[in-house]
Amino acid sequence: MRGKQLIEQAAKIIRKGGIIAFPTETVYGLGADAFNALAVARIFEVKGRPYFDPLIVHVANPADVEKLVKEIPPSAKKLMERFWPGPLTVVLLKVNNIPDIVTAGLRTVAIRMPNHPMALSLIKESRCPIAAPSANPFGYLSPTTAEHVREQLGDRVDLILDGGPCPVGVESTIVSFLEGKAKLLRPGGVPLEEIESIIGRVEGGPTDDRLSAPGMLPRHYAPRTPIVLDWNEKNIEFYKNKNIGMLAFREKENHLKISHTEVLSKKGDMREAAANLFAAIRRLDALNLELILAEPIPEIGLGRAIMDRLRRASGTRFADSSSDQSDSPNGHSEE
Ligand code: TXA
Ligand code: MG
Repeated sequence: MRGKQLIEQAAKIIRKGGIIAFPTETVYGLGADAFNALAVARIFEVKGRPYFDPLIVHVANPADVEKLVKEIPPSAKKLMERFWPGPLTVVLLKVNNIPDIVTAGLRTVAIRMPNHPMALSLIKESRCPIAAPSANPFGYLSPTTAEHVREQLGDRVDLILDGGPCPVGVESTIVSFLEGKAKLLRPGGVPLEEIESIIGRVEGGPTDDRLSAPGMLPRHYAPRTPIVLDWNEKNIEFYKNKNIGMLAFREKENHLKISHTEVLSKKGDMREAAANLFAAIRRLDALNLELILAEPIPEIGLGRAIMDRLRRASGTRFADSSSDQSDSPNGHSEE
């Protein structure tokens, strides 16, 4: 089955309460009818996702937002007009008929209009908004190809729509609009600078975790292999005799003994680096390395989202506040 027919079949499954993995421009999502609480519950079950972590509701038309929220503040409207369809999620006060399981009982709902023809046709054809998290087991890296979804969720979903690799490669930027203030809850595919150029200063940066979305846990988007981000001349001795891989931003020489290097972008292009990020980490993760050294990149533009995901993948985000029982200089206690 191809094209239109496949979408029709997928939409039929959604309308009957099934769950579908589908491509978006950011990462693959695992979707269900946002108004079918039972179908949404299956998403949580399949992902092993805790119920306190709410889902993003995907729409195919900005006008659909009006039915989901109490009001759309002017600044939210401006961003939706500028960035939709695209990797921007807005968090607004929800109307009461959105099931609590979608929003984890919060008074708000997260909404975005994805910029992917397959995602948009699926939502239109299903004739309902689609609640969808990234299509990965909870805590693991988001999938950026249909193959990633197949490997991890395979037969546990009703259908996987294959739209090729996701062009953006990191999840959407999440901005909340409550009490008249715009706050950044997650850096993502739309750079903060571009958002601020339209609505002015946005509160909360990637380092302010008190403002984060409920699902933004310190260790998240994580591969099995420990990722080390804060290696330097002083602590590098510790890693010398290990089987290590390198996640490099651009191509460059170093004197370390590395078994495999993944270069995110030869020319040092942030967009290309973001698009390659999760697939590159997955490839390294499949090599049974003892450790992955990741090269930090400048935290401007998409670099913010990339560094946010790398910190969470390495579990070093809360290094100061968590008790460190590990013997590594970097604080890896989990693996
Ligand atoms: O690009 C994306 O956003 C992808 C694609 C599939 O659309 N989706 C995605 O969903 O990354 P997920 O579930 O992996 O991440 C959604 C994040 C979670 O951290 C969740 O806590 C937060 O959005 N979130 C959802 N509803 C929220 C709300 N009402 N208030 C604050 N944060 C919310
Ligand atoms: Mg996710």
